[in-house]
Amino acid sequence: MPGTAAPWWRNAVIYQIYIRSFADGNGDGVGDIAGIRSRLPYLKSLGIDAIWINPWYKSPMADHGYDVADYRDIDPLFGTLAEAEQLIEEAHQHGIRVIPDIVPNHTSDQHAWFQAALAAGPGSAERDRYIFRPGRGPDGSKPPNDWVSAFGGPAWTRLPDGEWYLHLFAPQQPDLNWQNPDVHAEFESILRFWFRRGVDGFRIDVAHGLIKHPELPDLPPRRDPDSGQPWQHVDHPHWDRDEVHDIFRAWRKVADEFHGDRSFVAEAWTDTPERLAAYVRQDGLHTSFNFDFLMSSWHPQDLRAVIDNSLAMLGAVGAPATWVLSNHDVVRHPSRYGRKATKRWVANETYRPEGPLDLELGIRRARAAALLMLALPGGAYVYQGEELGLPEVEDLPEDVLQDPVWERSGHTERGRDGCRVPIPWSGQSTPYGFSPDGAPAAPWLPQPADWAEYSVEAQTGDEASMLELYRTALHLRREHPALGDGTLTWLDAPDGVLAFNRDPGFTCVVNLSTEAHPLPDHTAILLTSGPLDGGLLAPDQAAWLAV
Ligand code: NOJ
Repeated sequence: MPGTAAPWWRNAVIYQIYIRSFADGNGDGVGDIAGIRSRLPYLKSLGIDAIWINPWYKSPMADHGYDVADYRDIDPLFGTLAEAEQLIEEAHQHGIRVIPDIVPNHTSDQHAWFQAALAAGPGSAERDRYIFRPGRGPDGSKPPNDWVSAFGGPAWTRLPDGEWYLHLFAPQQPDLNWQNPDVHAEFESILRFWFRRGVDGFRIDVAHGLIKHPELPDLPPRRDPDSGQPWQHVDHPHWDRDEVHDIFRAWRKVADEFHGDRSFVAEAWTDTPERLAAYVRQDGLHTSFNFDFLMSSWHPQDLRAVIDNSLAMLGAVGAPATWVLSNHDVVRHPSRYGRKATKRWVANETYRPEGPLDLELGIRRARAAALLMLALPGGAYVYQGEELGLPEVEDLPEDVLQDPVWERSGHTERGRDGCRVPIPWSGQSTPYGFSPDGAPAAPWLPQPADWAEYSVEAQTGDEASMLELYRTALHLRREHPALGDGTLTWLDAPDGVLAFNRDPGFTCVVNLSTEAHPLPDHTAILLTSGPLDGGLLAPDQAAWLAV
């Protein structure tokens, strides 16, 4: 890949591929590597810099690949190792970098290590690679502590021999013991295995969860009992513990062994931007998702505070900010923003949209949010289908739900399937080009009957479409010297309007008020998120201006 002055990851727009739902090459109703390879020209023409691919490793798929049985092989559902190598090479030929997901907090219960731990029994070296403990109570029938699984229910499962093992997610995802040197050595070797195959970095799953308090104490309250407000960083026994950074300092050294700029992005949910910044110090990881931006309400003060705090905290440690609106774990943002009250939510707590959906409003805001995100200093993430304006599929029938959250919560949480529905490429009816014509199997989740209008084919060339808005914005962003890494200067603006300047010669303005406002001074309009209202910027509209 050609070298540039600043490392690529300080500016990059990274497109997230949820492999099951992106493109199905072999017609089995599940997306795969062949599908991704066939869509590389699309990704190139969209104007993104890199792709992050959700886990593609061998897996029993209890959590759609986040339960890895073999980190050095590809699951047959998705293809082969040789195909992965071809994809990496072809992506590079298209000028697109490749970032797989790495899952270091837990393995699958079918991983050779966990199987060996089960066979070896209590007290063995094999069990020490995971977190096994005796239970509480006279007969050990109570779990070792009160930790809960992120998918609902207790975080412990008991074995027939009486010991319990920890799983912060599903029982099929036993947590590794990062106090054990075998675990460090194994993951550093896995990183090298993939770096040697040309990957440009990794997205690190649950980066904030690897280290557990050695005594495994019960949970502290997360909210102040008097005010009910979330606490600003509690000493949590398994989230965001300081010792986790030692692991990533070692990983950074591994990445630095390889030529070219390899880069890590942390999935780290932290209570404060200061805590997030700790992941991306000079000798640690390169970047981190900025979930505060995604979790913000559509409100000018909230958004501005998130932007200012993120830039200040990350800037203080010399790291670029990144911005993200959606991913495979959260309600798609047109459906979040299309609610009267767009509330802020708290990390590690379930978000439920409230009230009726006004999708037109949600789409209008999503268009403005895209221009805001892509104008902010740093890098950005685009979740597949976001560029098509896909809403959350909120009415999937219960009998098709597959997210483990649905079962584990005792059918009280529907889970994340609504943002994972296979995306539409072309045609008038399902599978909308997701699978080849005449494919024997239907898409693994049903696609809505009205998705033809969202397809890539339907939107291509339609200047008013979300796809063309993203395409134009991404191409302008690549060419404009003010965009990407750098700083911003806020401009004076009417109440409810956010306006900032990027040097040289660029202004972004977003109207979050309920009235139309004149545009700030400019020499030319580069792009607007919708038609201006008699020359004025309408509510929930954004513009990029030359100044
Ligand atoms: C975070 C991933 O984004 C999510 O999809 C997964 O279920 C959990 N980590 C567990 O690996």
